[in-house]
Amino acid sequence: MDTQSEMLAMLSRRQPNFSLERPFYTDPDFFKLDMELIWYRDWVFIGHECELPKPGSFFTAQIGDYAIMALKAEDGVIRGFHNTCRHRGSKVCTQDKGVTAKLVCPYHQWAYGLDGKLLFARQMGESFDKADYALGQIACETVEGSIFINLSERPYDFAPLREHLTPYASTHRLRDAKVAFEATIIEKGNWKLVWENNRECYHCAANHPELCRVFPESPTGSSAAGGAADQEVMDFWARCESAGIPSRYKVDPTGQFRTTRTPLVNGAVSYTADGRPGVSRFLSDNRKVEGIGALLFYHYPSTWNHYLDDHTVTFRVLPISATETAVTTKWLVHKDAVAGIDYDVDRLTHVWTETNDQDRRVVEFNAAGILSPAYRPGPYSDSYEGGVSQFVEWYASFMLSRIKGDKPHLLSSVA
Ligand code: FES
Ligand code: FE
Repeated sequence: MDTQSEMLAMLSRRQPNFSLERPFYTDPDFFKLDMELIWYRDWVFIGHECELPKPGSFFTAQIGDYAIMALKAEDGVIRGFHNTCRHRGSKVCTQDKGVTAKLVCPYHQWAYGLDGKLLFARQMGESFDKADYALGQIACETVEGSIFINLSERPYDFAPLREHLTPYASTHRLRDAKVAFEATIIEKGNWKLVWENNRECYHCAANHPELCRVFPESPTGSSAAGGAADQEVMDFWARCESAGIPSRYKVDPTGQFRTTRTPLVNGAVSYTADGRPGVSRFLSDNRKVEGIGALLFYHYPSTWNHYLDDHTVTFRVLPISATETAVTTKWLVHKDAVAGIDYDVDRLTHVWTETNDQDRRVVEFNAAGILSPAYRPGPYSDSYEGGVSQFVEWYASFMLSRIKGDKPHLLSSVA
């Protein structure tokens, strides 16, 4: 049986509210299909506008087989390009990030402008037309300071995501931010295990002592209705919204992205060891309500974000192989905040540095156990793992419809 038919059969016989069968987490051919049908077709978060402050600023990333770069051109527009030279295919940009006047390939020095056009190529003869060899452009969109690219030749409409996120994120002002610190960890587990772990806090009490001092361990933020059944959360939403701070749980009909605001615990206003602000100069302009909690936004398959009052923490998920995933965390603070004066990097990053490492550990234990032929899909907790169930429903629905060549189904229950 070919991989598509095998995956289709497994998705069709899938037991709802149970984890997936083993090949979804381990098989290189299933991984390839995930990449082709989701990662090379969906909008993928790659970084922030504030990381490209001036013309010539760029950063590179690897999305499966695709080496890509994001670049700000002279006209101030951020564009995405394939990082493969139109001569014989070398990577053009070999650094992670930087600022450059033009892009010069290290192999034979073909030079490209910031708009991707080929400017110079030595000794290519009379008939050679530079216009035929511009860098390949990639669809690129920005929303409220975050940059998304889409590797598809015919990307689907970005507008629903923009319309969804803009009202929630605008007061958090990521365009006025800078990255105070970033860290990438490699988790030895399939990208879906990273997400499944993210979408529940069933594991939090036993694994995240630092996070649990500030973030609710209850299913409120992570799970299904995002607090809609919790009177305290609904009162909190009403308080925030009456001050003009969008907060109520909202999920796209496809289940692919969701935003909700959750109150923090123990009087915390930030993710620091004592719950007090990690930055004295606040990034958000939500100055009308005390304690606006954390605005939680995810977009499958590549990002989840926690927007706080004083700073924002963003996470980028990029698969490396069937059993390895890179997770990049960025701590964004106001661009004028000064390290050592307005914030201390260790204090700012402590809670999530610990939490990320704890999550890496449990994901790796999970992945190692699933490698055993004795692994069988197991049931999710109704009360605590609604978010995991929702993620798996989204994944199964997208894969099923794309294997069959349809548009993604709207989930009947979008928890
Ligand atoms: Fe880039 Fe030759 S491969 S200049
Ligand atoms: Fe966790």
